[in-house]
Formats: sequence, structure tokens, C-alpha cells
Amino acid sequence: MSHGLAPAPLSARPGRPLSGSLRVPGDKSISHRAMILGLLAIGETQIEGLLEGDDVLRTADACAALGAQVERVGEGAWRVAGVGIGGLSDPSETLDFGNAGTGSRLMMGVVGSHPVTATFDGDESLRKRPMGRIVEPLTRMGATVVSQAEGARLPLTLSGPRETIPVVYETPVPSAQIKSAVLLAGLNAPGTVTVIEREASRDHTERMLRLFGAQVTVEPHGETGRRIALRGQPELRGTRVVVPADPSSAAFPIVAALIVPGSDIIVEGVMTNPLRTGLLTTLLEMGADIVTLNQREEGGETVADLRVRHSALRGVDVPASRAPSMIDEYPILAVAAAFATGETRMRGLHELRVKESDRLQAVADGLAQAGVTHRVEGDDLVVSGTGEAPRGGGTAATHLDHRIAMSFLVMGLGAREGMAVDDGAMIATSFPTFVSLMRCLGADLGEDGP
Ligand code: S3P
Repeated sequence: MSHGLAPAPLSARPGRPLSGSLRVPGDKSISHRAMILGLLAIGETQIEGLLEGDDVLRTADACAALGAQVERVGEGAWRVAGVGIGGLSDPSETLDFGNAGTGSRLMMGVVGSHPVTATFDGDESLRKRPMGRIVEPLTRMGATVVSQAEGARLPLTLSGPRETIPVVYETPVPSAQIKSAVLLAGLNAPGTVTVIEREASRDHTERMLRLFGAQVTVEPHGETGRRIALRGQPELRGTRVVVPADPSSAAFPIVAALIVPGSDIIVEGVMTNPLRTGLLTTLLEMGADIVTLNQREEGGETVADLRVRHSALRGVDVPASRAPSMIDEYPILAVAAAFATGETRMRGLHELRVKESDRLQAVADGLAQAGVTHRVEGDDLVVSGTGEAPRGGGTAATHLDHRIAMSFLVMGLGAREGMAVDDGAMIATSFPTFVSLMRCLGADLGEDGP
């Protein structure tokens, strides 16, 4: 697979302990949502700490194409002058979302509920990802798919109705992207839109909708689910959004410190929303030395500084019910598991097959390269460690997937023979400062490839 540029191989070698403090960039999920709600609000939205990764910049471009005035005023500081719900204009060009599943899917909810027509496209990875899960509820709400690639894939042209139909919709899989697309579409419906999820997924859309002035009620549904109701056609008011540090990016230095002997680092201001902390829960069960310091509120989310020290980890059984709260963290958990003593079983990973790559396969292949004992049993990944550093030494194929690239570079910092990845270019989609921040901690990362 290619992103149209020359591949940028990277390598990682074991070296000195990692030490020092770092702050990872802003949360990707919140950054996309801040841009999109900025578009749909009346007045100005000021965003601080926006993740300036390629995925979010594509969403910013799409907001501008639909009528917003989007301006960068400083590092991570952006202003969006919105058009208000109902005020979108037809974009003159295809909305190219690059690698961004979240940006494209959430924006389909916006377009699919307005009387506009837009074509969505993306890179080779995004063109492989299923969009039927998004357009299915949107067609119930009145949207029309004008054209699409085979299997409800991009490029896809979507038209919204003159009047959006309010629905009650139960998501078929626990997915914040599906939930958010329906809620964002519901903003332009005359009535209440309700989304039911059997297992709670990240709730940033609900929180941010309230921040912008919408009425959202959330009730428990069954043991682990939620019923979310949004009153349609509110007047959203532009506001200030402070984006906390992304726990899914923090995961990489955290696991690096756990596996590199002698390490002791602090990751500052990490968002600790409980619907995002499945990895921390799991690492603590594995015996990780992670101490939560200075817990506080920032921009409507709880954040904390995390002190992480090298630890002897042990294998654990990760229940499928934990998947929604750590869905993006399985590749890096598999790396931690390779350094643990005993077996780690990660259950219920079917959704990993439809991420930026087939992550279950990509992780299994990378573990094989690194000489780590593992097996895939149905939807479960089982990794066996000896408590010693694995051999490493291979090159992991990244398949245009940023998290696969970062995971196997972290593996290389602890593996006996290091590790390379075939292409690190996609790291810029979510964590553009990964290499420089890891080097500041003392990591030996090279641009020389395998
Ligand atoms: C996201 C939701 C998750 C996650 C993605 C970001 C979001 O996808 O994998 O990286 O911001 O809503 P699903 O909701 O489809 O599981």
C-alpha cells in the first residue's frame, strides 16, 4: 500500500533508560469534534491544543469546504467561524479525508442531514474501510447515497434530505463513530434522535454537544450500555474548547517506559475519561508501575500526570467488554504482552479488522517478525512472553497504519535486536511529534530503516 510518497522507513534500537517528562499532542477524537461543532455553531469557536495531525487537518479543510471560516492563529490554536445548523453550502470539490476514518464518518452525519451533496474520498486504507455502518442509519434519516464504490466504500457521494427524520437507532457494534454520525445528523432533525448502544463507547460527542448548548440526556441501558437522546435543531453557540492530551498517543511512551529497563518518565496532562482508560486498567493488572498524579479538570475532561517506571509485567486475560475503552490500544498492548511473563489473552477483537489496517493480522505478522510466540484464535489474540526481552530484529509491515508503526518502533526499543518498520509516514496522522518526543526521552530512533 502507498500514500503516494516515497515510504519513510524507521528503526528503533535498545539503548539507555527513558527519562524525563513529555506532553503528547491533543486528543484526536476531541479535535475532530471541536472542528465539526465549530462548523455547526453560530459565532466563533476558539480551539486550544488542537492535534495538528493530518487526519484533523483534513477535517478542518472539509469544514472550510462546507462554509466555515477556519483559521490557524498559533500553535494548536484555531478559530472557526461557523455557519450554524442548516447553513452548510455544497462543497465545490471532493472532500478528501486522507487516512481519517473518524473525520469522514462524522462528517457524513453532518452532510447526510443537510440538503447538500458531497463526495467523500480517502487514501488506499480509508477506501478499504466499511461505510455501510454509517450510511445505513443515515438513509433511515432521509439521506441518499448517490454513488459509492463496491461494498459501500469510498469514493462515496451522499445527499442529505430537505427534512431529516428523527430516529431511534441501536448501533450494531459498539462504535463511537456510528453513534456520533447519527447524533450529528440528529442536530438537523425536527424532534429527538435517540441512539442506543449495548456497550458504552467514548462519549466526547455527547459532552461537547452540551458544551455548545445542545440538550443531551444519557441514561443507562442494560448493564453496560447507554441510551442517548438529543433534542434536534438546537442553536449551537461557538465556544472555547481546550483539547486534552490524547491517551491513545500517551500509550506509546507509557509502554516504552514499562519495557525499557531503568526507565522513569512522566506523561503530562493525559485525559483520563473512563471510556478511554482500558489500557491503563489492563497495564495495572499486569503489574505496571504507573502512578496517577495531580488529577484535575481541563476543558470538561479529567486529566492527570502519569509517572511510569520500568516494570516486570505478567500476562492477563483482557475481557471483550473492555474493548470499547481501549479499541485503539491493542497493538501497543500486544507489545507490552510480549515482554510479560506468561500468556495475555485479548478477547473479542473483531473490530480491529476494520481499522486503518486489519490490525489483528498486522499485529500478528509483526509479532512473528519479532520472534514472539502468539496465536489468533477466532477474534482473540493470545501473546506468550517469557519475561525476557524478545529477539526483535525484523521489519514490521505497517499497511498505512500509524498505530502499527508506533507499536513496533516501541517494541524495537526493548527487543534485543531492535526493530524496524517499513514506513513511518502515517505516524503524522495522529502523533506528528512522536519521533522527536521519544528521542527527547532518550529513545534511539533512526531514519535508516531496516
Ligand atoms: C473514534 C472511535 C473509534 C476509534 C477511532 C476514534 C472516535 O472507532 O477506533 O480511532 O473518535 O469516535 P469506532 O467508534 O468505530 O470503534
